[in-house]
Amino acid sequence: MKTLSEVNMCGIVGIISKEPQELVPNIITALNNLEYRGYDSAGLSFLDTSTVKTFKCLGAPSDNLEKGEIYAKTAITNKKITTAIGHTRWATHGKPSIKNAHPHLDCTGRIAIVHNGTILNFEELKSSLQKIGHTFKSDTDSEVIAHSIEEALKHEKKFEDAFLHAIKMLEGSFGIVAIDKKNPGTLYVAKNGSPINIGITDTMFIVASSVNVLLHYTKHYIPLSDKECAILSTNKGILHQEILQFKDKIQPTSKQPKLIKGASVEDMSKEGFESFMLKEIYEQPKTVQATLLGRYNKKTGNAVLGGLTDHEKCLKQLINIITISCGTANNAGKAGKGIIENLTDINVRNEIASEFRYQKHNFKQHNSLIVVISQSGETADTIGALKVAQKERYKTFGIVNVVGSAVSTETDTGEFTRAGTEIGVASTKAFVAQLTVLYLFALKLARMRDMEKDEGKHLISTLENIPKHMQKVLILDKEIKKIAHKFKNIKNISFLGRGIHVPIADEAALKFKELTYIECGSYPLGELKHGPIAIVDKDHLSVIIMPKDDQFALSKNSIEQIRSKGGKVLIITDKSAEKDPVIQKADATIIIPTIKQNICYPLLEIIPLQLFAYHFAQQLGMNVDKPRNLAKSVTVE
Ligand code: M6R
Repeated sequence: MKTLSEVNMCGIVGIISKEPQELVPNIITALNNLEYRGYDSAGLSFLDTSTVKTFKCLGAPSDNLEKGEIYAKTAITNKKITTAIGHTRWATHGKPSIKNAHPHLDCTGRIAIVHNGTILNFEELKSSLQKIGHTFKSDTDSEVIAHSIEEALKHEKKFEDAFLHAIKMLEGSFGIVAIDKKNPGTLYVAKNGSPINIGITDTMFIVASSVNVLLHYTKHYIPLSDKECAILSTNKGILHQEILQFKDKIQPTSKQPKLIKGASVEDMSKEGFESFMLKEIYEQPKTVQATLLGRYNKKTGNAVLGGLTDHEKCLKQLINIITISCGTANNAGKAGKGIIENLTDINVRNEIASEFRYQKHNFKQHNSLIVVISQSGETADTIGALKVAQKERYKTFGIVNVVGSAVSTETDTGEFTRAGTEIGVASTKAFVAQLTVLYLFALKLARMRDMEKDEGKHLISTLENIPKHMQKVLILDKEIKKIAHKFKNIKNISFLGRGIHVPIADEAALKFKELTYIECGSYPLGELKHGPIAIVDKDHLSVIIMPKDDQFALSKNSIEQIRSKGGKVLIITDKSAEKDPVIQKADATIIIPTIKQNICYPLLEIIPLQLFAYHFAQQLGMNVDKPRNLAKSVTVE
């Protein structure tokens, strides 16, 4: 593994431009696009006639930088400048506050830095800097960077050398952008473990934690690798870049710009929707289409997965698959278990990454495959677990959304989910894309075993029609909003299902918790009577996922048990079961289309559950795109 696992969240940005221009609005827009990485405070600094000007706010940049007093001050937003940096924070060292918000300055106010990561030796560095007279203003680990550069400047003439000297003393993970009032028109950038991408245009360099920010300006970028730094400058109308490695010794290195793939500017806009999450829920038919595109052959009834072509022998011999993932990706893994075990004779185990990485493993490596599932490909626990799997010599297969992410580059092989950029912190379209890849993966494995060609064709035809059926489910949006309203006074909720529907109940409960902050449970429906039924009363809602499959009769039985205890019932079933007397007696129903293969229902049934959680949270006045305490990529352990 080349990338450190204990990387931190937060988003950073830096811009230098050839000509002075209004950079503050650019920095704020960039921070808005980075706020999925953290949003408890934000700030920016810029060089104005050789002074460092810094502005900070509590809360998300889009709420408080953009709409706050900074933006109102046209003297700031209209200021024509060449050099600026910004930061949006997810607090780890020091609580969210103005003093802990970045950028951080040195004692003299000459240097400003933004940092994403964790400086493991910051206490040591801080105490020695304090002993020689440095005064710290924050509780963060990051502030040591500014003071370390300041200290190094006492013996290094050039700022660049002082910067490198300071960087070499840091232990831990970092993406850093620094500016120096004595060197206007220069950004000093360093990376170790936290993402840093340099966008290149004819008129400016823009540095950011995520390529999404660069897309507003360019598709050409240089991703820095660990232990690399960049000195980006503009002088007399010419942009200049110098990239250096700081491993054992400091040496120049050359890197060719790459083209940004798999993300678009549209992903960064709400396109008329009231929130990113709602937009992403509505994008799911398109997502499934994109994920399926070119990945099956109707004639052979087989999946065509480029990542597997060189691994046929190993796949034929597979006995065990172990999925490692977190949160929503883990729920996709659990659904994958049901799909793969249903279609093949392979055993599938689901391991939560944060557990797997610290456990003893008894599977035989030669006939086991580790499937790593991650939207961001940056999740620290998932990367940590992948590292362990690699050390134990397992073969690894990644199912990842973000191209170029650590999981995508470090796994032996894999498939991208092609969901596009997901901004809503609560994952939706990435989940259905993960499921789609898992269906194709299961089909491939099954066709290598005893699945007949016609069965394969049948599954393909069901998958092909999913986007069309998803559109029909989305039409139920208004009805689902009314249902959420109907149950608004409910005290507690359980999400239930049997077999393949259990992971969907788990995902529905996760969405509900993330968005509403209301504790709720998810259980296999048959398990209800073994304990959870104790909580059922008139104030309890059971949300039951039960399309008409071979467990339908059993599920009806459980409904009777719930109703006999006075509990309320919301049923998600398909059109073919609509008229069933038990369904008719439910307090509310959501009817999804009937499809040809029961195994594919998870792709449809998750949508009404996402919408239910969404509308429930909206009526409570919650921030659906940025639920409290969460961030999009959980890059801390
Ligand atoms: O980026 P990843 O898929 O690795 O993220 C895993 C989880 O942190 C993520 O799914 C999280 O549970 C989401 N907030 C779910 O909505």
